[in-house]
Amino acid sequence: MAQNGTTENGVADGIPALPFPQPVKVQEVRHTKIFIGNEWHTSSRGRTFPTFNPATCVKICDVEEADKEDVDKAVEAAKAAGQRGSLWRRMDASSRGRLLHTLADLMERDRLLLAVGSLPTLETLDTGKPFLQAFFIDLEGSIKTLRYYAGWADKIHGKSLPVDESFVCLTKHEPIGVCGAIIPWNFPLLMFMWKIAPALSCGNTVVIKPAEQTPLTALHVGSLINEGITSLGIPHTNMSGLPSQAGFPPGVVNIVPGFGLTAGAAIASHMDINKVAFTGSTEVGQLIKEAAAKSNLKRVTLELGGKNPCIVFADCDLQLAVEETQKGAFYNQGQCCTAASRVFVEKSIYEEFVRRSIENAKRIVTGDPLDPQTSHGPQIDRKQFDKIMDLIESGKKEGARLEYGGAAVGEKSLFIEPTIFSEVKDHMRIAKEEIFGPVQCIFSFESQQEVIERANSSKYGLVSAVFTTSMDRAMSVSAALETGTVWINCYNALHAQTPFGGYKMSGNGRELGKYALAEYSEVKAVTIKLSKTL
Ligand code: NAI
Ligand code: MG
Repeated sequence: MAQNGTTENGVADGIPALPFPQPVKVQEVRHTKIFIGNEWHTSSRGRTFPTFNPATCVKICDVEEADKEDVDKAVEAAKAAGQRGSLWRRMDASSRGRLLHTLADLMERDRLLLAVGSLPTLETLDTGKPFLQAFFIDLEGSIKTLRYYAGWADKIHGKSLPVDESFVCLTKHEPIGVCGAIIPWNFPLLMFMWKIAPALSCGNTVVIKPAEQTPLTALHVGSLINEGITSLGIPHTNMSGLPSQAGFPPGVVNIVPGFGLTAGAAIASHMDINKVAFTGSTEVGQLIKEAAAKSNLKRVTLELGGKNPCIVFADCDLQLAVEETQKGAFYNQGQCCTAASRVFVEKSIYEEFVRRSIENAKRIVTGDPLDPQTSHGPQIDRKQFDKIMDLIESGKKEGARLEYGGAAVGEKSLFIEPTIFSEVKDHMRIAKEEIFGPVQCIFSFESQQEVIERANSSKYGLVSAVFTTSMDRAMSVSAALETGTVWINCYNALHAQTPFGGYKMSGNGRELGKYALAEYSEVKAVTIKLSKTL
C-alpha cells in the first residue's frame, strides 16, 4: 500500500536511484514489554509470546503478553491522562501538534541511522516485507500521517450558528475520551499511525493493540513516545500560562501487545473505552461491532476486507495498466485489503494483457527481504500460507488457467510464487473470496454495462480502479462503482489527505484526511439565551 503519492513496484518508481539505503543487519530488540503510562510493564498473568521472522521461520524474541487485566490498567492510565483538568486536556492545541511532529522527527531519526531500532529493519524482520518497501513506503507513509495530523491539531474547531437573535448558538469539538485500536500485521507501523495520529490530534487518549504476529515496531514507537518526554521536547506554557510538559504525558498512548480473543476482545467490550477503530478481517469486524453494542455502544470504525475490481478498457495505456494492476495484486505479497484481486480486461486486448502480465511477473525478485534487490518476500505465517495455497488449488480445480507461478518456494518456507490465473469465472472461489496472497486473477469482459454489474456484485466495496484514456468514461464508470476509493490510471495511490474506507462489508467510517477527524471528536452544541436583544 503506497501512501502519499509514492508508487510502488517493488522499489523502482519514485524511489531515488542507487545507492539504496541498507538495512541494519545486527538487530537487538530492546522493547518487548507492555507500554502503559510511559512505563514498561510485565504481563499481569506472567505470560509471554514469541514473534517470528517469516523469512526464516526463526523466533526473533519473546514479548510480554497483555490480557484483560493489562488492558484494564492501560484504560485506567488513558482515562486519567485524558480527564478534564489533566495536562493533556489543558494543553494548547498547537503544543499537541508539536508533540506529533516531535514523534515524527524521532521516527525519521530511527529510519536508518540507529543500529538498534532502525524501524524499517525491525519492520522487515517482523513482517518479512522487503526492506526498501518498509523504508520508502511504510516509514514514509507513517511519518507523513503523523505530520498531516500534527497540522490539524490547532485547526479543529466548531462554528457559531444562525438562530433567532435571542440566542447565541455555538458548537465545540471535544475529544471522545479513551480510544481503543486493534490493528493487523500487514502494515504494522502504518496502521499504528493511521489510528493514533487523528486520535491524538483531536485530544483523545489511546489504548492500541498491535497484531500478535508483529508487535515490535509498535513497541519501538512506545520508546520514542517516552523519549519525546525526556530529551527532545521544548518546554512551553499554554495560552492560560499554565505550565506544560515537554512531551506526551503518561497514559496518552498505551500499547498492549497480545492476542485477539483476550486483549482485543477486552478492548472491544471495555466500558471505559468510548470508541474502537479496527482494521482486519470482516469476521472479527462483526465481532467487534457486536461487543461494542453489548457493552457501552462505543463508536466503531471498521476497515475490513476487499475483493477489489480493476477495469481495463481497450483504449487504455496497456503497459501502464499491466504494471499497475500487477503491482496492485502482488504488493506486500498480496497481503493488502486493497489488493487488485479481480482484473477485468476488455476482450479485444485480453490475450495481449495476459501475455504482458506474465512477462512483467518474470521481473519480480523473490528472496531475502533484507536484500535491497528483493521485491517479493514471504507470507506472514503458516495459517495465511495454507489459506492461500488452498485457494490456488481451488482455482486449478475449478478450471481457471494457471499462467504463472502457483507453487510454494522451497520446502518449508512461507514464500509463495507470484501467481497469475487467466480465464477466471465469477462463480469460482478465487473470484469471490479474499485471497490475501500473491494471486492475480484475470477475467475478460465485453461491454461496459456488463463489467460494472460484475465489478459491483461483491459483498465488499473497498477500492476499485479504471484504466482508460477517456476521461468521460473514467468519470461515468467511477460514478457507477460501489467502492470507497476509485483509482483512475493508477493503483494504491494513498495520501494522508485523502479519505480511505469501504462501502458495504468493507467497513464503516473513513480513515485519513479531514474526514477522520469527525470519527475522533464529539460535537457539543452550546445554546445561550440572551437576557435582552438590542
Ligand atoms: P484478524 O481479523 O483475526 O486479526 C486482525 C487483528 O484483530 C489482530 O490484532 C487480532 O489480534 C485482532 N483480533 C482477532 N480476533 C479478535 C477478537 N475476537 N476481538 C478483538 N480483536 C481480535 O485477521 P487474521 O486472522 O490475522 O487474518 C485473517 C484474514 O483477515 C486474512 O486472510 C485477510 O483476509 C483478512 N485481513 C484483512 C486485513 C486488512 O487490512 N483489512 C488485515 C489482516 C487480515
Ligand atoms: Mg513476526
